[in-house]
Amino acid sequence: MRMMVKKIDEDNIDPEVISQAGRIIREGGIVAFPTETVYGLGADALQPEASKKIYAVKGRPSDNPLIVHICCMEDMERIVSYMPEAVKLLADAFWPGPLTMILNKNDKVPYETTGGMDTVAIRMPSSKTALALIRAGGGYIAAPSANISGRPSPTLAEHVYEDLKERIPLLLDGGAAGIGIESTIIDLTTEVPVILRPGYISLEMIEGVIGPVIMDPGITDSARKPKAPGMKYRHYAPEANLILVEGDADSVISKINMLIAEDVRMGKKAGVIGTKETIGHYGQGLVLSIGERREEDTIVHNLYKILREFDGAGVDVIYSECFSTPRMGQAIMNRLLKAAGHQVIKAI
Ligand code: TXA
Ligand code: MG
Repeated sequence: MRMMVKKIDEDNIDPEVISQAGRIIREGGIVAFPTETVYGLGADALQPEASKKIYAVKGRPSDNPLIVHICCMEDMERIVSYMPEAVKLLADAFWPGPLTMILNKNDKVPYETTGGMDTVAIRMPSSKTALALIRAGGGYIAAPSANISGRPSPTLAEHVYEDLKERIPLLLDGGAAGIGIESTIIDLTTEVPVILRPGYISLEMIEGVIGPVIMDPGITDSARKPKAPGMKYRHYAPEANLILVEGDADSVISKINMLIAEDVRMGKKAGVIGTKETIGHYGQGLVLSIGERREEDTIVHNLYKILREFDGAGVDVIYSECFSTPRMGQAIMNRLLKAAGHQVIKAI
């Protein structure tokens, strides 16, 4: 199967392209599409066979549930068994947008979509292309990130093409995903809601709307099992060995320079993930800027793209600075730690 790529302009969506894509979804097929977080690999969430195809295409373990994407609140009521009060408050504050809510499902949602769980993850994305596709596809699109399992999530149509070109019929190319990392996931089935995956919507932003919530301890403690099945797998990994270097700015720079000098002596090709503020301080290796520390959105936006760029350059080892920025530091470090398989060196 050869993938067809159709360009789509968010502000002037071609209805014919959307109706063709919607038809593929309704007939049980798969379409890759842009969202404001990352590209998604979509199929009809209510057709068990369609959901199964997603797992096959991605090479995803079947116990890892999918997020169901919707385009209006009435559609949400049809697939859950109970709507806690927090749902409406959170939807008013953050939907459409990068927040996924976990609720108890009803019989309409097949276990093939939820990885055998009695709960279902639901998100209303803000991308206009995504919303149009969901409507045309029948209202419920199951979509994981559109990468081969384990690879960095795709933030450009080119990334999707690279991973899936022989495996799906259609990719909607809407340009760069605005945010660049996946949605925040919150479980609303427990007495105190739990954040299962940190993202663009921070814990503080959520607490501002519904009061106290907790962060799943499995997110920060690598010895504990995370509550979201997908968070336990190694993920987002580039082909090179990624190592994070932690400490104050000057110590990190000199430590990385030392490590690279050693690698170069051993004949290895090394890379560095720095920022606009620091890249001038590295002497050797392929040095790339992930963004500006003062503008944390830029770091989030470039995170996955930069990991894929190193793959293209064929480096053996990548050293990265740490980015515990005020609002999204937890989300950024969660993804980087997983990509690095939790390898962290302390610079002193
Ligand atoms: O931003 C996003 O959320 C993107 C775009 C495409 O919308 N999607 C995405 O999906 O990141 P995926 O499949 O790559 O990640 C979904 C995560 C996995 O870690 C999965 O285990 C968790 O959500 N998840 C889904 N349903 C769940 C459930 N019922 N209970 C616990 N965790 C769940
Ligand atoms: Mg993913």
